[in-house]
Amino acid sequence: MSSLEHRARPAMADLADRYRLYQLAVQNPRTEIDFVDRTFRQLRGRSARTLREDFCGTAAVCCEWVGRRKHNRAWGVDLDPEALAWGRRHNLGALDASGQARIALVQADVGAVETPSPDIVLAMNCSYWLLGDRRRLLRYFTRVRDSLAEGGIFFLDAFGGYDTFRLLTEERRVRDPQGGSFTYVWEQAVYEPVTGRLVCHIHFRFGDGSEWPRAFSYDWRLWTLPEIRELLTDAGFSRVMVYWQGWDSQCKPDGVFVPVETGEPDAGWIAYLTAEK
Ligand SMILES: C[S@@+](CC[C@H](N)C(=O)[O-])C[C@H]1O[C@@H](n2cnc3c(N)ncnc32)[C@H](O)[C@@H]1O
Repeated sequence: MSSLEHRARPAMADLADRYRLYQLAVQNPRTEIDFVDRTFRQLRGRSARTLREDFCGTAAVCCEWVGRRKHNRAWGVDLDPEALAWGRRHNLGALDASGQARIALVQADVGAVETPSPDIVLAMNCSYWLLGDRRRLLRYFTRVRDSLAEGGIFFLDAFGGYDTFRLLTEERRVRDPQGGSFTYVWEQAVYEPVTGRLVCHIHFRFGDGSEWPRAFSYDWRLWTLPEIRELLTDAGFSRVMVYWQGWDSQCKPDGVFVPVETGEPDAGWIAYLTAEK
């Protein structure tokens, strides 16, 4: 028997692509753009055409946006050349020539980037929580407002609830459309009450027992909705709204986000915000 035949098969974790797993486990560009597109139309009485995705990573949401209408354009902004290259290859690469031509990926800091003025700026999956103090977050929000077109709208999300202040690990099985499944693990590893620092990790586990520990890690400030609303108002946005989910007949979140003035003290919730220029 040759030494090759003796060699163990590579573990599933060694073959995994962490960006692909992240997209499968965390992102849902279709429902995100459904909400953004519909809400912009409700608030402005017309469809938006141009969108900038801040902290875009692999630009999955830019791709969803240009696929909606043939005149839609998108800019994706991220600091990380590896994530952008992955997105260019796998996400933009799956679009036709027209779709590809209507997206520009920019490797830059969202706090300094210059782009044409879009109808919409997105900062989703709480990526702006990387900006850990009021001064930096206010400066970013002010720049977003300045860079939006007249009548433009900034969309963000946030999560919270009493479980957010606990150290915990949650697991969820995710089906892989290419076959099989994997386990997505969300770990809140550090929460520090004096500064609000929240350190989280994403781990992936596979059917053969192998694991990709800390495939992604985030060192965040746990911002609360009143703080975010106040900072958006301080940045000069004319109206800031919070959108909360209802419940379905099985008492599970129904995925329908509606504007609210008050929420519920749940263990864990996610919400969207709009900030209008
Ligand atoms: C959690 S990922 C977000 C991916 C995707 N947009 C989503 O909604 O899931 C956060 C991204 O923010 C990027 N990032 C962090 N700080 C940044 C900054 N100052 N300017 C631009 N991108 C930044 C990271 O490189 C990373 O790709």
